[in-house]
Amino acid sequence: LKKAKRKLWEKRDVAATFPRRNAYAHKGVHGKALFVGGSFSMPGSIAMAARAGLRSGAGLATVATVESAWPSVAAHIPEATYTRVEEEAGSMVGVIDSGIEGYDAIAIGMGMGRKEGAEAMLRNVLEKSTCPVLIDADGLYHAKQLLDEVSVRNAPVILTPHPGEMAHLLGIKVPELLARPFEWSQRLASERGVYVVLKGPATIITTPEGTQYVETSGNAGLAKGGSGDVLSGILLAMIMQTSSVADALCNGCFLHGKTAERLTEDSHSQVDLLATDVVEGLSQTLRTFS
Ligand code: APR
Ligand code: MG
Repeated sequence: LKKAKRKLWEKRDVAATFPRRNAYAHKGVHGKALFVGGSFSMPGSIAMAARAGLRSGAGLATVATVESAWPSVAAHIPEATYTRVEEEAGSMVGVIDSGIEGYDAIAIGMGMGRKEGAEAMLRNVLEKSTCPVLIDADGLYHAKQLLDEVSVRNAPVILTPHPGEMAHLLGIKVPELLARPFEWSQRLASERGVYVVLKGPATIITTPEGTQYVETSGNAGLAKGGSGDVLSGILLAMIMQTSSVADALCNGCFLHGKTAERLTEDSHSQVDLLATDVVEGLSQTLRTFS
């Protein structure tokens, strides 16, 4: 492995690179996002991701989910449009009827389930789309079988694992990963030509070229189910609004973590903070940066 270039991502970096809203913007300018995921038992993951994406500036959002998750997801996000994915016992097994053309960025995996057959959707997205694709949660479980497809893709692929998911992808144990998180991140990113966001109290962002950034905002209020789904939505929106994928990922992690910090100073505790509070709290953080 070559010696990595490493950098701490600080507030001044955010200020210098954070996307600004153009006064003449229309909804198409800020990107059309597709969110693929959700199942009968996990309808909330995809709802939180899509809502976080819209709150972070995505112009349009489409949610591709199973019919059994759709009512609750749609009730939480009237601003999104919907497309159906075939299901078996409440989990995704098919591909989207309406195709995957015309999107500016796609996030896949949140709450999608681990059913055999779900990987068809991921393969379809990787092969048929030409936009950045972010893979999270159960999508990472399926991605392990599709790493060769990931490697040959021309448009950016962003993997956002927590340590358990990262260890699974690499075929190693979590302690082994955590003993050398920078080295493992660099290996995965450069071997597969992907961006890796290894999440944790300090998040390590690695580019396919091997540059690494560390983003340290956030607190244990985020150690709760759904926080990662919210991050995925934020990251996808930032990718669509920023020319550099690395800047977008670093700023998205900052926005997520700073919002949790601010909420636990002002109105919440780290005990009660919920992922949905972070989504609604984005507004206050964004007001200071855009
Ligand atoms: N300090 C700072 N940030 C934290 C902390 C902490 N102590 N704990 C968690 N976070 C942040 C992480 O950096 C990350 O951005 O919260 C987010 C947690 O993301 P995930 O680990 O993906 O958590 P979650 O959304 O609950 O996803 C769990 O993943 O493994 C699957 O099936 C599992 O559905 C589950 C899902
Ligand atoms: Mg997660």
